[in-house]
Amino acid sequence: MPLTMVSMGLLIAMPIVGYFLVGSHGHPVLFFNTQLPVLIGENETLQYALRGLHILGAIALVLLLAMHILGALRHAWALRDGVMERMVPSLNRESHEQSRSDSDT
Ligand code: HEM
Repeated sequence: MPLTMVSMGLLIAMPIVGYFLVGSHGHPVLFFNTQLPVLIGENETLQYALRGLHILGAIALVLLLAMHILGALRHAWALRDGVMERMVPSLNRESHEQSRSDSDT
């Protein structure tokens, strides 16, 4: 659960940091043809710090995605506890057979 919170936090923080990163380059941000307010001006020190944060956040997101995929495969192949079938219901052979026998009757 804490890792879910970290992922959610990163997914919210990354666009915000990105928004300020663009501002620190001295450019406005366009959001579907609407220009968002420029909250900070061109600032090299801030740009350097925000770029570092943005890159760290992106690396953390990639690592979390890899952990999520490995965890899902562990549930599917090692634990065989039905978690994968809950994520991808079409893999659930039992419910397939059940619905087929239901439609036969
Ligand atoms: C979940 C959302 C986002 C992810 C995962 C993401 C990821 C990345 C990555 C991997 C880079 C390349 C970093 C590098 O090696 O230089 C990057 C660069 C950049 N991103 Fe994002 N980004 C996100 C959202 C945004 C948003 C919403 C904006 C702008 C509003 C933005 C603005 C930028 C800028 C300006 C750069 C270039 C940084 C530089 O080199 O100075 N990003 N982003």
